[in-house]
Amino acid sequence: MAAADPGTALPASHVQAAPRPTRDVHRVVVTGGAGFLGSHLCTRLVAEGVDVVCLDNLLTGSAANVGHLQGADGFRVIRREVTDFVHVPGPVDQFGIGGSGSGTGRSS
Ligand SMILES: NC(=O)c1ccc[n+]([C@@H]2O[C@H](COP(=O)([O-])OP(=O)(O)OC[C@H]3O[C@@H](n4cnc5c(N)ncnc54)[C@H](O)[C@@H]3O)[C@@H](O)[C@H]2O)c1
Repeated sequence: MAAADPGTALPASHVQAAPRPTRDVHRVVVTGGAGFLGSHLCTRLVAEGVDVVCLDNLLTGSAANVGHLQGADGFRVIRREVTDFVHVPGPVDQFGIGGSGSGTGRSS
């Protein structure tokens, strides 16, 4: 789609709402959740009212990156190596891959 001329307002009939994420997501596991990208993903999900299980081996990340989320409803950090088997009790609707290595079985 061509970029709109910023000086030309589009009529309302031409404006489409951006696709919205499904609201049926209640619980997400975020690997690398204590890293740079993962912590922002955790923050966004918690702000949307989603329960978040943050899995991280804290190799390059830090619990401080998600310190502001400690105590938030439904937020939990678990220090784990995700290349090992990890049992997460309860239903999980989605997985979020935080950052480098945390979703691929490799650590940076
Ligand atoms: N303020 C800034 O702009 C800023 C700050 C930090 C980083 N960065 C940039 O962000 C990028 C890195 O961010 P990122 O989020 O990809 O990396 P990251 O290292 O911050 O996050 C990866 C997370 O995955 C975890 N992890 C890795 N392997 C794992 C495994 N096997 N099991 C469990 N956990 C595992 C790490 O401990 C870490 O918490 C770089 O480009 C860096 O330059 C920018």
